[in-house]
Amino acid sequence: MSNVVFITGATSGFGRATARRFAAAGWALVLSGRRLERLEALRDELAAQVPVHIGALDVRDAEAVKQFVADLPEGFRNVRALINNAGLALAPVPAQKVDLADWHTMIDTNITGLVNVTHAVLPLLLQVGKGASIVNLGSVAGEWPYPGGHVYGASKAFVKQFSFNLRCDLQGTGVRVTDIAPGMAETEFTLVRTKGDQAASDKLYRGTTPLTAEDIAEQIYYVATLPEHVNINRLEIMPTRQAWSPFAIDRDA
Ligand SMILES: NC(=O)c1ccc[n+]([C@@H]2O[C@H](COP(=O)([O-])OP(=O)(O)OC[C@H]3O[C@@H](n4cnc5c(N)ncnc54)[C@H](OP(=O)(O)O)[C@@H]3O)[C@@H](O)[C@H]2O)c1
Repeated sequence: MSNVVFITGATSGFGRATARRFAAAGWALVLSGRRLERLEALRDELAAQVPVHIGALDVRDAEAVKQFVADLPEGFRNVRALINNAGLALAPVPAQKVDLADWHTMIDTNITGLVNVTHAVLPLLLQVGKGASIVNLGSVAGEWPYPGGHVYGASKAFVKQFSFNLRCDLQGTGVRVTDIAPGMAETEFTLVRTKGDQAASDKLYRGTTPLTAEDIAEQIYYVATLPEHVNINRLEIMPTRQAWSPFAIDRDA
């Protein structure tokens, strides 16, 4: 029976690169995301290599998530790795200027969506037991505050603490949990954050060397395929050309 990896947000960025990475290693793929045409294109690309099951799924919809997992075909139920990757940042403006709907969308996707999927897939991971993995996509923003980070950073702090707490409860089951926390990586992330401003996205990544989706996919694959007695709790990854800044001080004019 093939090992199965279940990836959310497989239509772009880290998720799509992770699908390709696991396919290269012969894993069967369960790929989800909202954009069906992109899932179909990825299935067409990878189906000659490995079995692929796709589903248009909004992780915010708990009932749909539950049903999608319940309906997984027999060859796709041996889920050895869950990659909770679907997520987004919105509203790159100060908190006092944010549209409340954007805060709700981040909470609903990055927090509620992630727990919806975890709750639904956990029974399958427990059946595999030793060597199974949950890899949650956190962020450096979950550890380090920055202007405009508001709810996005807070949602990724949730991902970190939820990952650690899951480890406590899964003690003895063999299921591992990792919070992967990337720094700046060039994907569609900034395009989404700016609601389609390609120039702003290009500007952010110009003149430096961001991480690539493939860099993160490699790390995800690494933590999910370590010997079964090894659990990476948290992996924080930045581009070499990214680092922290000093504290901001408000001074009299
Ligand atoms: N790029 C970075 O700098 C960076 C750094 C740290 C952490 N991260 C995190 O890494 C993860 C992946 O981001 P990325 O950089 O690869 O961004 P991306 O290219 O925008 O990909 C995001 C993925 O999430 C999916 N998604 C968003 N909302 C969804 C929903 N409601 N239901 C299902 N799928 C949904 C999108 O698919 P659909 O739109 O088709 O649904 C897409 O496949 C996110 O959790 C992000 O917060 C990114």
